Amino acid sequence: MTDQPVFDPAKDAAALAAVKLVQPGMKLGLGTGSTANVFVHRLAERAAVEGLALRCAATSKATAELAASLGLRVEPLDELGWLDLTIDGADEVDPDLNLIKGGGGAHLREKIVACASDRMVVIADQSKVVEQLGAFHLPVEVVPFGWQVTQALIRKGLDGLELSQRPILRRLRDDAPFLTDEGNLILDLSLEAIPDPQALALMLSRIPGVVEHGLFLGICEMAIIGRDDGSSVELVAEVTQ
Ligand code: A5P
Repeated sequence: MTDQPVFDPAKDAAALAAVKLVQPGMKLGLGTGSTANVFVHRLAERAAVEGLALRCAATSKATAELAASLGLRVEPLDELGWLDLTIDGADEVDPDLNLIKGGGGAHLREKIVACASDRMVVIADQSKVVEQLGAFHLPVEVVPFGWQVTQALIRKGLDGLELSQRPILRRLRDDAPFLTDEGNLILDLSLEAIPDPQALALMLSRIPGVVEHGLFLGICEMAIIGRDDGSSVELVAEVTQ
């Protein structure tokens, strides 16, 4: 679990730049996924040298285990109450810093943690930067009870928005359904393009069986994009400037 991730210069560059945003005594949200894992490793390295007195809330069981194994203090979000900063990865980042998240199925906890933070900063490599969201499938977490009815309602809602692709139940390699940390299912929506993310988010949030979708709209304040040459660049949302 504490093994160093395979070195990726772009992810490492983004993670290192994000570690510089951390101040002593901060309450931090730790994201989920391969880029967030690099950040956790780099953060733990700095904390081992400087102390920092950080208190961390994790967005998944996997991240909680990793962070604790590296010596970071991980506490329940409710113990921390409000966070100074959350650092997380993303599957897509558009020019307004709207995101698709949930490739790892953790977007529910990720959104709760991000929205309980003064600041959410995304770290990603260049492949995640897009002009328009939607090439990556949109994960939607649904409760197991009546999930096929929820799937049908999502399909109807997509038809209404002229986004008529079928939501697919996420499965593991052995064909068993993927279960989130909350014990829910994931429906992946292959939409190709999402011209109106707000309308899609509203439609999905109106369906009772939907717990949370992977659209993060107006939540991310800054994105740090790592490059293969080891440099990084900061993107700030155009609409909030
Ligand atoms: C986890 O559910 C996701 O939201 C991740 O943050 C996202 O998939 C990015 O992961 P990678 O950094 O592994 O690409």
